[in-house]
Amino acid sequence: MERLLVKNIGRLATPLGRTARNGPRQGEIQVLQNAWVLIEEGIISKVGEGAPPQLPVEIVLDAGGRLVTPGLVDAHTHLVFGGWRQNELGLKLHGVPYLDILAQGGGILSTVMSTRAAAQHQLEEKARRALDEMLSFGTTTCEAKSGYGLSTSEECKQLRAIRKLHRDHPIDLVATFLGAHALPKEYQGHRKEYLHLLCEEMIPAVAKEGLAEFCDVFCETGVFTAEEAREILLCGKRYGLRPKIHADEIDPIGGSQVAGEVGAISAEHLIVCPPEGIASMARGGTVACLLPATSFYLGASFAPARELVAAKVPVALATDFNPGSCPCLNMQLVMNLGCLKYRLTPEEVLTAVTLNGAAAVGRADRIGSIEPGKLGDLVLWEAEDLDYLCYRLGSNLVHTVVKRGKLYTNRLG
Ligand code: NIG
Ligand code: FE
Repeated sequence: MERLLVKNIGRLATPLGRTARNGPRQGEIQVLQNAWVLIEEGIISKVGEGAPPQLPVEIVLDAGGRLVTPGLVDAHTHLVFGGWRQNELGLKLHGVPYLDILAQGGGILSTVMSTRAAAQHQLEEKARRALDEMLSFGTTTCEAKSGYGLSTSEECKQLRAIRKLHRDHPIDLVATFLGAHALPKEYQGHRKEYLHLLCEEMIPAVAKEGLAEFCDVFCETGVFTAEEAREILLCGKRYGLRPKIHADEIDPIGGSQVAGEVGAISAEHLIVCPPEGIASMARGGTVACLLPATSFYLGASFAPARELVAAKVPVALATDFNPGSCPCLNMQLVMNLGCLKYRLTPEEVLTAVTLNGAAAVGRADRIGSIEPGKLGDLVLWEAEDLDYLCYRLGSNLVHTVVKRGKLYTNRLG
């Protein structure tokens, strides 16, 4: 039996439970002082305060009085892609809007070209470097979408890269099919045919090979309408793929209403989410997965996080790591923005990047909190408390990441 004891934890801060926390419960976390955690075979077996148990253990990690939290769950990324898009920075500085770049064949469609041009192993290599960096910033589980292939074989190539990385890399990956990310160039003027391809060929192929758990749609002006999103998500559902939706990022065209109606596990962005959308998500039990680094990067406004909490919609925060609207994979920056721009408390932010992120990817029963029975995923921070972690800006405060009971140390303190 492989045992790891993490002892001398100054503060152990964690939400509790196996489901998303909403409303006032989002900000209610447990803080233990002078605590310890015992991990056996990669699973948390005991947590306590005071003197740790006297057991034979293979590894003892002395936390030196530092803060410990659950490993961070990045519930929304576009991890696997070819190329970058630094050329768009100049366009942005000249005021060219994100959707105009896409309409001119750039944006997502230019990443589609680079992704199609790359072999699966090249995509894996590039994404592996991103995952290494994510782990060093405290992420222990990461959702990853396809959406830069836009044909059956190219979408499957991306999803197979995600499956391979899940097997090889310490970070656990959760795969989402996003074939409805844009209308590919070869289908311009043939929308109906692409919708047909999505529903009759791509979704069945992805489901048959077991390549994804979720189906997502970019519901936006000039991309996919709310009606199209509903049709695609209901089709995915028939094939066992749970719905997710990019909704209300730039224009409020009904995406958040669709989220609640189809019982989406999460709705993403929600920058301009209307009150009807909030009510629909509350009824549908949908997690609001907010992406503050994207708002920052697009120079957009920030999602109505306080209104979502008040309406008892559970809020998760994620990076949206992608080569266009948010080339950022640092969840610590997301936590800073969660406090400063959404006015969430550090306690609400912690729940958002752990347990509620886990709920957004259907894993709240296994990860997202430090409790017996959950995976041994923790972060030891160069911080004495949660306020300090959310207050410092621009440094990497990770000391050590524990993933399934294995240690990944950034610096030796
Ligand atoms: O979530 N909005 C759609 N998809 C991504 C952006 C992808 C890209 O620009 O390549 C997002 O922001
Ligand atoms: Fe996204």
